[in-house]
Amino acid sequence: MWGPEGLDEVEAELLGRPEELKGKDVLEIGAGAAQCARWLAGQGARPVALDLSHRQLQHALRIGGSFPLVCADASALPFADASFDLACSAYGALPFVADPRLVLREVRRVLRPGGRFVFSVTHPIRWAFPDEPGPEGLSVSASYFDRTPYVEQDDEGRAVYVEHHRTLGDRVRDVVAAGFRLVDLVEPEWPAWNTAEWGGWSPLRGSLIPGTAIFVCERD
Ligand SMILES: C[S@@+](CC[C@H](N)C(=O)[O-])C[C@H]1O[C@@H](n2cnc3c(N)ncnc32)[C@H](O)[C@@H]1O
Repeated sequence: MWGPEGLDEVEAELLGRPEELKGKDVLEIGAGAAQCARWLAGQGARPVALDLSHRQLQHALRIGGSFPLVCADASALPFADASFDLACSAYGALPFVADPRLVLREVRRVLRPGGRFVFSVTHPIRWAFPDEPGPEGLSVSASYFDRTPYVEQDDEGRAVYVEHHRTLGDRVRDVVAAGFRLVDLVEPEWPAWNTAEWGGWSPLRGSLIPGTAIFVCERD
């Protein structure tokens, strides 16, 4: 699943046609409980699920699957150059790092020539709106151009959650600067069947403004 709209890889085929996934080495970045890696293994691919959070990988282990789980920072991937045919990330790592180019360069390094990296992030336009599912989430309340990160702190003032904003142009420049070719930028539309509200995502907002941006990149 690429985002809360409900667009899944079966429908989107952004990593390739189903028969092309068989036998491919695929790295999932910011895997969480490794839902994508689990699906990829079911298609005959050879996924590796990577996440910074040991706790998330414990969930992945509990749910199961016969593929490696790797606890590491996406900005310093513990793999040799040209180890993977494909890489993917559904809202993993990239929104949470101050320097996304580090991650993109690392992903490019571990991909084989011609390899594809598909990643989804919150659509940058959402930064300008309150994160509310109702009508209050439809009025601009902040500057789209303000790159100050969103930070939640604990009682001692330590950052416990951080999200970094990049404009759409920033993201395109990051992808190109890391040595990728941008093949597509997908903005999934909210489908009629999806009546779920989740955080700031809802059918109301989804029918009016995009919520997810999916970047399809290739290593030349
Ligand atoms: C919003 S969750 C997405 C999880 C999963 N991809 C999904 O679709 O449910 C973001 C994940 O990125 C991981 N993450 C954040 N920063 C990271 C980093 N620098 N390196 C690797 N993983 C990171 C988090 O631990 C978290 O599991």
